[in-house]
Amino acid sequence: NSGAFTFDPGFTSTASCESKITYIDGDEGVLLYRGYPIDQLAENSNFIEVAYLLLKGELPSDQELVDFDRSITMHTMVHEQLKNFYNGFRRDAHPMAIMVGVVGALSAFYHDSTDINDPKQRLIASHRMIAKMPTIAAMAYKYSIGQAFVFPRNDLDYTSNFMRMCFAVQPEEYEVNPVLSSALDKIFILHMDHEQNASTSTVRLAGSSGANPFACIAAGIASLWGPAHGGANEAALNMLEEIGHVDNIPEFIARAKDKSDPFRLMGFGHRVYKNYDPRAKVMRKACHEVLDALGVQEDPLLEVAMELERIALEDPYFVEKKLYPNIDFYSGITLRALGFPTEMFTVLFALARTVGWIAQWSEMVEDPNQKIGRPRQIYTGAAQRDYVDINKR
Ligand code: SDX
Repeated sequence: NSGAFTFDPGFTSTASCESKITYIDGDEGVLLYRGYPIDQLAENSNFIEVAYLLLKGELPSDQELVDFDRSITMHTMVHEQLKNFYNGFRRDAHPMAIMVGVVGALSAFYHDSTDINDPKQRLIASHRMIAKMPTIAAMAYKYSIGQAFVFPRNDLDYTSNFMRMCFAVQPEEYEVNPVLSSALDKIFILHMDHEQNASTSTVRLAGSSGANPFACIAAGIASLWGPAHGGANEAALNMLEEIGHVDNIPEFIARAKDKSDPFRLMGFGHRVYKNYDPRAKVMRKACHEVLDALGVQEDPLLEVAMELERIALEDPYFVEKKLYPNIDFYSGITLRALGFPTEMFTVLFALARTVGWIAQWSEMVEDPNQKIGRPRQIYTGAAQRDYVDINKR
């Protein structure tokens, strides 16, 4: 590698791929995007700059950042006919169902101009996907509340543009609160990539067959939706609302430990982190920043969340199994405070993760040794046997 360290985690035999994009040390609670610690990027950078870093591998110069930002901004509009897809959904359709359908439909608009073997067309497809996700996501939200779609504006930054498309009610103008959009920008950075999680592996596997990137991202959105994965932010807030008061926490802790009860503490535990998810620390700080900016003195759900974390982290069950809060534990409280309904939480996760999905898809497609993915299995079914006619069964 070009001076980069190659770390063999000792499980190369089960590793699905090699990648230079994101590094996680689950035992130490370390997350690096192209070598940069996630908390440093969240505190000092912004969505477009981190998107450049994930896609290109290096932080941009001033001019590179200006050019990249423009290349995204110019693709934020969607084809007028794409709006027809929304009308096919019931108004109460889950926004993630709309996202899977509409993003998949992008294939029909750009399939013929996306030869994935042509680097230029691959780059345009990547920029189109990153640029259109906020517009499509905001349209899903507007459709669900019966309000008119709001066009993207080219003079706003990526996250402010998204907030305005969600919350402006035309013809009234909408002033984006810079503190809130900066907090959401930070939250998007935390969600951008996370190595070979379920949805990213879905995107890579779909892309390994040569499928177009829009269809691959739609597959990633479908995988992210599950409550064990990206759907956990919605499930975690629903859980905190069900707990309702700190006095009820012991009952839910007991249920989470009871193997006969399917209940799990949502926003807790992780396939890789056996330490505190570094993103959860930044998320908790962002949560306090948003509540302070909104002048919220006390948020009852935040009080429940912090007491639940305190009790769980002292409980032998969680300590022994190394279960800590993950990125989803505090995100729901923060996103709700920003004005988003719970059904939109995973949509926001998908919006941000699109950068990681596209970066990982590009890395895979550009690999000259890449082959179609073909996981194998351990067969535990019947041994070979002969057919028996129905009259003899
Ligand atoms: C994300 O992979 C990624 O990188 C994902 C993600 C990303 O950015 O892409 O980080 C985003 O998906 C974060 C995770 C969001 N999901 C949740 O918060 C849902 C609640 N968490 C659990 O469902 C669970 O922790 C998983 C699904 C995340 C992981 O499950 P595992 O693989 O079973 O976890 P484990 O092997 O560490 O579990 C060890 C033990 C098991 O019990 P035993 O079989 O040893 O008796 O801990 C138990 C688990 O049953 N356990 C929990 C628990 N999580 C694990 N018990 C109670 N509550 C929990 N939340």
